[in-house]
Amino acid sequence: MPSQPQQKPIIQLVDVYKEYRVGTTSTMALKRVNFQVFRGQLIAIMGPSGSGKTTLLNMIGLLDRPTKGKIFFDGFDVSRLDDKALANLRNTKLGFVFQTFNLVNRLSVFENIELPLIPRGIPRNVRAKMVLEAITKVGGDESWLQKKPNQLSGGQQQRVAIARAIVGKPVVLLADEPTGNLDRASAKVVVETFLSLNNAGHTIIVVTHDPEVANCMEKIYVIRDGEIVGEFMPNKTESLISKA
Ligand SMILES: Nc1ncnc2c1ncn2[C@@H]1O[C@H](COP(=O)(O)OP(=O)(O)OP(=O)(O)O)[C@@H](O)[C@H]1O
Ligand SMILES: [Mg+2]
Repeated sequence: MPSQPQQKPIIQLVDVYKEYRVGTTSTMALKRVNFQVFRGQLIAIMGPSGSGKTTLLNMIGLLDRPTKGKIFFDGFDVSRLDDKALANLRNTKLGFVFQTFNLVNRLSVFENIELPLIPRGIPRNVRAKMVLEAITKVGGDESWLQKKPNQLSGGQQQRVAIARAIVGKPVVLLADEPTGNLDRASAKVVVETFLSLNNAGHTIIVVTHDPEVANCMEKIYVIRDGEIVGEFMPNKTESLISKA
């Protein structure tokens, strides 16, 4: 969906700082970050290794709390939530995709995708319908469902992981280096999956090192040393999907 920023962001970071302390060492991984996500957006976050991309994504995804500053979800100050309420908000409103897929190899693809639905007490027949819908949305095949994740290719496994991330109909999908472990052809399929989900209305944020992946998104933010240093329009001629 072409992004049509509405007045109220779905996620907003205001003057966010994140400090990590290990023993006597302190790292300021985010320094006064201001960032907004609007419904329907397709955003890339780029930056060198150690610049704070994962830390930023963890803040946006409510996986961790800022040292200083505020995070608003749909206008609500999430610092007012205790850990349990925060986890509940995260589990129902956000979906996560990781570089290493994070699928459970002893479970079938079906069981992997339905995992986020189990704690919600959704009946089995409804879960089955939702799983089928999710696997279809990522361009997957019904025949994958009874397989184990390691019986699929890397690109197929990542699409299963995306299906798991969207099965609960999250408001925002967050991906950290989702193509980092994939060859170019599989990376392209995964990027096309994000584009098709975005067309269907999903809000998506992708952290990537890969300029050809970032150039497939609608907007690119660059982070360096914990600070957002720029906001760029993608160069579509240098994007993964423009290449044969
Ligand atoms: N749990 C942690 N404890 C201590 N320091 C951390 C922790 N997580 C990250 N850091 C530090 O914070 C900074 C930002 O790390 P972050 O993982 O956000 O970078 P990144 O941009 O995602 O890097 P990469 O591209 O390598 O994944 C780095 O200096 C890192 O060493
Ligand atoms: Mg990282």
